[in-house]
Amino acid sequence: MAAIPNGTFPRTRMRRTRAADWSRRLVAENRLSPADLVWPVILREGEGVREPVASLPGVDRLSVDAAVDAAQRARNLGAPALALFPFTSVNERSPDGRLALDPTNLMCRAARAIKKAVPDIGLLADVALDPYTDHGHDGVLNDGEIDNDATVEILVRQALVQAEAGFDVVAPSDMMDGRIGAIRDALEAAGHTSVQIVSYAAKYASALYGPYRDAIGAAGVLKGDKRTYQMDPANSQEAVREIALDVAEGADAVMVKPAGFYLDIIRRAKTEIGAPTYAFQVSGECAMIEAAGANGWIDRDAAVMESLLAIKRAGADAIITYFAPFAAERMADGRG
Ligand code: PBG
Repeated sequence: MAAIPNGTFPRTRMRRTRAADWSRRLVAENRLSPADLVWPVILREGEGVREPVASLPGVDRLSVDAAVDAAQRARNLGAPALALFPFTSVNERSPDGRLALDPTNLMCRAARAIKKAVPDIGLLADVALDPYTDHGHDGVLNDGEIDNDATVEILVRQALVQAEAGFDVVAPSDMMDGRIGAIRDALEAAGHTSVQIVSYAAKYASALYGPYRDAIGAAGVLKGDKRTYQMDPANSQEAVREIALDVAEGADAVMVKPAGFYLDIIRRAKTEIGAPTYAFQVSGECAMIEAAGANGWIDRDAAVMESLLAIKRAGADAIITYFAPFAAERMADGRG
């Protein structure tokens, strides 16, 4: 780029291109589209159920039939995919999270119903044990520690069950080492050669997951924290290594999570690795905007759209956000 000589004002006035709406639109470098959005849907048992989550205003747990309606709505709005997560009650949880492997569990039933009704919507499955364990961790415990290799064996079986149920994408969010390669090999061997893996490759031990843990029923059961497997918020070089490893093991796309506090990581993922890059605007990010908006401290709608545009500007190709239906609807009305 040419150097800008000194003293060019008033020949150069940066405000000229900002002066009118038509011009601002023409020079905009990034634009959000419904095609960027993945809608996270929290499932629960029942029929005709839409159950609000207190810490996540605007998000309901949906029974399978309501999730089918959501898929229809996403398709009509031009949002390409849904990411499904299950609420599990305490009495269905176990030390090894074995409900994860049941082909008739809530996730699998929802995938079958959605794929039948709306075959062209993309479906992402969360691969992890925290919705199913009675201690709320993403893996199995051995002497009080998360056992990496024993967990990977279970995750492989969970991913196969999900692929069998019709999920297009398995998305491991557990942060165990070596799970991407193990899952890829198992999918290939089972003939699921076109099932994608979107790896939660750089997932941080963040304070922003609270409302999600409420939503899936893990809040009361989680013992301790996840710092032995999720990343330290202090690190970015390590994130680039994590992402490179997962791509080498066969991930089709990678994810940075959370999004808004980690825009530098999204940018590095995009420029240094270059694989398709997802960013997850997590529950706490959405809850903060909702809470400040509800208090009249910020303009909620404008803050939502700005937060998503910032994530896109940082380099995300796809954004998983609870605001997906709201944002897509707003864009359908012609408002960015
Ligand atoms: C863990 C998982 C988490 C989320 C999705 N899968 C976080 C965690 O409890 O560690 C968070 C999503 C959100 O906060 O919206 N498998």
